[in-house]
Amino acid sequence: FFAGMHTQMIQSAGSKSQADARIIHILYGTQTGNSEALANDAAASAKAHGLKPIVKSMDEVELDAFGKMEYLLIITSTYGEGEMPDNAQILWEAISSDAAPSLQHMKYSVLALGDTSYDQFCQAGIEWDQRLAELGAERIYDRIDCDVDFEEPAELWISEVIPHMAEGASTTIIVDSDAAMVEAPKYSRKNPFPAKLLVNRLLTAPESSKETRHYEISIAGSDLSYEAGDALCVFPTNCPELVKDILRAINCTGEEEVPVDGELMPLNEALRVHFEIKLPSKELIDEIARRSGDQELNTLLEENDKEKLANYLWGRDTLDLLLQSPDIDISAAEFIALLKPLQHRAYSISSSSKKHPDAVHLTVASVRYQSHDREHKGVCSTFLADLVDETTDVRCFFTPNKVFRVPEDNSLPMIMVGPGTGVAPFRAFLQEREVRQATGKNWLFFGDRNAATDFIYREELEAMQASGLLTRLDLAFSRDQQEKIYVQDRMREHGVELFAWLEQGGYFFVCGDAYRMAKDVDKALHDVIAEQGKMTEQQAIDYVNQLKKDKRYVRDVY
Ligand code: 2AM
Repeated sequence: FFAGMHTQMIQSAGSKSQADARIIHILYGTQTGNSEALANDAAASAKAHGLKPIVKSMDEVELDAFGKMEYLLIITSTYGEGEMPDNAQILWEAISSDAAPSLQHMKYSVLALGDTSYDQFCQAGIEWDQRLAELGAERIYDRIDCDVDFEEPAELWISEVIPHMAEGASTTIIVDSDAAMVEAPKYSRKNPFPAKLLVNRLLTAPESSKETRHYEISIAGSDLSYEAGDALCVFPTNCPELVKDILRAINCTGEEEVPVDGELMPLNEALRVHFEIKLPSKELIDEIARRSGDQELNTLLEENDKEKLANYLWGRDTLDLLLQSPDIDISAAEFIALLKPLQHRAYSISSSSKKHPDAVHLTVASVRYQSHDREHKGVCSTFLADLVDETTDVRCFFTPNKVFRVPEDNSLPMIMVGPGTGVAPFRAFLQEREVRQATGKNWLFFGDRNAATDFIYREELEAMQASGLLTRLDLAFSRDQQEKIYVQDRMREHGVELFAWLEQGGYFFVCGDAYRMAKDVDKALHDVIAEQGKMTEQQAIDYVNQLKKDKRYVRDVY
């Protein structure tokens, strides 16, 4: 290695120049940026193996170009109920249509990201894998399906798949000394920042049917910063009462020593800090069924009907399952082995770092409900609401959301649809525009159940309206009248202006509920465009697809 040299080449058999190196395409489908990060890791490894990687977001690739690719890695997450992430949808539609070309000349492998706590685990990756094979492409390395803890398996896949991709190619090994020197972020999932909570304030009225809270978390002294649109990931700890109840249910004292990451610690500490004890894992459900002989549960598991099982598990947590089978005999170590690690939760940040450089604001609905004769509480939302005091560290790190951003061009209009806690990133966007002194128009659609109790950030939003920062504020309070009124109804009512703003180069942002709201808003957007633009249904779809490609229709939905 020559000091001062940028790139070191170790040339072996047949000294080919890098220009002749084999091209490998790495396409990512992503909702939050994890796939993109992995695509870049794979590219670095490919380079080191003398390949010439080309990394692209799926929405940058046309079907024609796709059909010509010879070496391909697909890295994709799954979004919502087994759907393609937003930036993958257009290419996926093309590939899954009859117009898709034969891919006999292609060699590929797929890495799928998912979350086993959802049905349709890694569905998007599975579908890509199947479709490419169907079209004649050769799978040269098996797909890997990663759970939320994806780093290690993904690293393994990359280290295995790249040599397969390089097989038979000229072997110019390139060691990029720059790549080696790229510093890993100081704080990450593996090394979260221990932050202090400065503010915990109730936003909804006490008599509201909901409890939504405003949090301010200090990042002073951390060197961390964030962009409006990013998310903050928070590691919760479990409720001590729930830990006690679980210990009682499995006949343990909590003093039992159990192994966690190669270290022994008391069971109660392990349950409080390290394991998911609210949501039962599939392995735990199977084991409870096996040990208890519970008729209903066993029948359900045998039937293997996902929907029926999901209905059964609705509102039942680990403790409910344990309580209904009091006779099962399970040791501390056996129990721990059936649990998943406690994961972080991601929240869209509701502040701009330009306005609040030392703090991150979050807007979080506390999850609390009564079910099976017990009060149930959401893990992280009630950790923040009830458990954090001055002595508690809020362990956190940032995840960027590179497409969910205030437009660089300060003169372009922004339309923001964010009912409920979906308003969070738009509060950040508006602060960002205020500090930038952006001249572009801003339009917010907000709503919730009742105006009197659920109009969160009302004073702030009205002040923004008064100052002219917020050009339009349209509200939809669903339960203030007989018939339901939702944000998408307001969009339709103001279709003329909405279309005009889009035609002026406007951006269209959506944040909040993915299952119902975001789907209905998407439908309303298509309808408004078709009607106001005097377009056919297909033309409206094309118009919306172009907005997506231009990153002018972006969503942060969950
Ligand atoms: P609802 O609960 O009264 O039906 C935030 O939760 C707001 O989103 C509430 O006012 C809720 O109304 C509303 N909401 C429920 N379903 C929706 C949908 N399909 N589209 C838009 N908003 C919806």
